[in-house]
Amino acid sequence: MVEAAPLKESKNKFERLKAEKDGLEVRKELEHFAQIGWEAMDETDRDYRLKWLGIFYRPMTPGLFMMRLRMPSGILTSGQMRVLAEIVQRFCNSSGFQDQGIADITTRQNIQIRSIRIEDLPEICKRLQEAGMTSIQSGMDNVRNITGSPVAGIDADELIDTRGIVRKVQDMITNNGEGNPSFTNLPRKFNIAIAGCRDNSVHAEINDLAFIPAYKNGVIGFNVIVGGFFSAKACIEAIPLNAWVDPRDVVAVCEAVLLVYRNNGLRANRQKARIMYLIEDWGIEKFRSEVEKQLGHSLQTAAEKDEILWDKRDHIGIHSQKQPALNYIGLHIPMGRMYADDMFDLARLADVYGSGEIRLTVEQNVIIPNIPDSRIASLLKEPLLQRFKVNPETLERSLISCTGAEFCNFALVETKNRALALIKELDAELSVPSSVRLHWTGCPNSCAQPQVADIGLMGTKVRKNGKTLEGVDIYLGGKVGKDAHLGTCAIKSIPCEDLKQVLRDLLIKDFGAQLKSEAELTATNTASVTISAVADQINNVLESKVQSNGNGIATQTAEAVIAPPAPSPSQTATINFAQSGKEVTCNGDDLILDVAEASGIELPSSCRSGTCGTCKQKLVEGQVEYEGEPEALEDSDREQGFILACIARPVGKVVIDA
Ligand code: HEM
Ligand code: SF4
Ligand code: FES
Repeated sequence: MVEAAPLKESKNKFERLKAEKDGLEVRKELEHFAQIGWEAMDETDRDYRLKWLGIFYRPMTPGLFMMRLRMPSGILTSGQMRVLAEIVQRFCNSSGFQDQGIADITTRQNIQIRSIRIEDLPEICKRLQEAGMTSIQSGMDNVRNITGSPVAGIDADELIDTRGIVRKVQDMITNNGEGNPSFTNLPRKFNIAIAGCRDNSVHAEINDLAFIPAYKNGVIGFNVIVGGFFSAKACIEAIPLNAWVDPRDVVAVCEAVLLVYRNNGLRANRQKARIMYLIEDWGIEKFRSEVEKQLGHSLQTAAEKDEILWDKRDHIGIHSQKQPALNYIGLHIPMGRMYADDMFDLARLADVYGSGEIRLTVEQNVIIPNIPDSRIASLLKEPLLQRFKVNPETLERSLISCTGAEFCNFALVETKNRALALIKELDAELSVPSSVRLHWTGCPNSCAQPQVADIGLMGTKVRKNGKTLEGVDIYLGGKVGKDAHLGTCAIKSIPCEDLKQVLRDLLIKDFGAQLKSEAELTATNTASVTISAVADQINNVLESKVQSNGNGIATQTAEAVIAPPAPSPSQTATINFAQSGKEVTCNGDDLILDVAEASGIELPSSCRSGTCGTCKQKLVEGQVEYEGEPEALEDSDREQGFILACIARPVGKVVIDA
């Protein structure tokens, strides 16, 4: 994926690839792709268009793909969980730090299954379809999994059972899972959430379109908010549309908003393509009236107040349902990560103790509903509940993490394994009076929403003693539930190796934590994995990746993983850093930011994937090639000769104004 810079076209690469061929078209070619294999595939089909089918090529594990399903409201049956378990057992390869296939529960109540070969995808899609599941339109410029209250229909205090509405909205957008070309060319991704509960269990405010319960003239319906989103550059909360919608009209309003966005959303610059920028451009009044025009009737004005009155619940533990003598049980799934055996077991528990239903939460956990009082005691004795606990330790309970460097090529740090090991150590050392929501996200793209956390940790690279190390920026002050608002970056550039001390101090100072006594320490320490053991494991894997092909692209020792193509021999290049007066000879494969850092020249950086623009530098002379898409460059930047140092490689001799 190398492109000459500067690009002059006003259409960005993604608009071009959508215009050339609709993403859904690749569905017809899946059998063909399976026959020719991943290496022979057209790269645009492989790396981008397959995402319209929910299939993500993962450069960290060459030859292997991740599949993102759709799970409206995060609800599935035990039968569906069993089908997924069979797929994970049979088709998901060992990769990353894993010696077997895995599935991850995501922060959108969804499931991602990992490390699949293209050869197996037709059979996997067939099995999913037979089981009534789909992964269609779950990536790229499509509507993501639609979130709803995870206890809809069973919550004694709910206002609207949103299950049917969420399902209908998904069916409208995906044409009942068959694929719907009306919504496959949005300007950018789009998130929808529908809350019928009192605790905003869907994080409505961070969605492009969200419905929150509100009474108008004594009738329960929804106030509508629009425009919330996170990106590497900006994090913006949704704002009121000044509209109240009857539950029966939600599908039509979703359709109208999507069509207005599809037809008018800004497309030239992907940084400005989310719906909030269209709203900013037009003003909310014009946006609202365009939605009305599309709907064909006027919208009612918003109800004066909404009914989000509670702090957010995490649903872990045993809870009475609104149905007498029935309960739901929330199980804590560490980091949302499941192996095939876990999935079979969850399906069995749902059948034996519940009604054969399983639900997922945005905290990456599982709920089993409809358990009679009489079966609770025996359920609590099930061995799986030793791992998937109903009473996890305080800090571990509220720990959330994105995929991180184990599988994600954007990641600047390893997340899930490190986060879990660190939190086990802190739980062993500290008594924390109440839950502290800790979100780890591997890069500024913010998939794990550090801005809604009590303590958010965002992966970054930091400099310490002349070395570049994995580190984090720390976000504080995020509030969820009633009066939700976003946290902000409070502490920058903490090396991961120093993080435990920093978090310990923060938890003691701001969250009322106390050091445990010696006796308590001895009791709890025996169970915990040490961070240093995990750090060694991480380092070993990362080192073997770097050694294997010299440029940090992951290869695995496991036989199931196909080796990446051999790197082409690289040319020598020279970078002259004009302001620093340094001229460095390097490899033509080297990234300018890396060369600068290795030469002791500090350039600002953040995402290191071309999406945030922090590393923008002026190219005074010469040419660069990009590894990936320089998304953060506007046309005007290119015209003025700016480059993104984090993904730019020098061609021959270049002069940088740094
Ligand atoms: C330009 C910005 C972004 C890019 C390029 C991006 C890219 C990705 C990629 C490649 C993955 C798959 C990683 C894997 O599991 O192998 C992923 C996962 C995910 N992304 Fe993003 N993402 C972006 C922003 C966001 C934002 C702002 C959100 C929502 C706040 C989000 C939500 C998710 C979720 C829920 C997952 C599933 C994994 C998880 O639960 O953390 N993404 N993203
Ligand atoms: S936050 Fe970054 S590292 Fe984590 S999944 Fe998203 S893109 Fe990957
Ligand atoms: S550091 Fe974000 S674009 Fe380079």
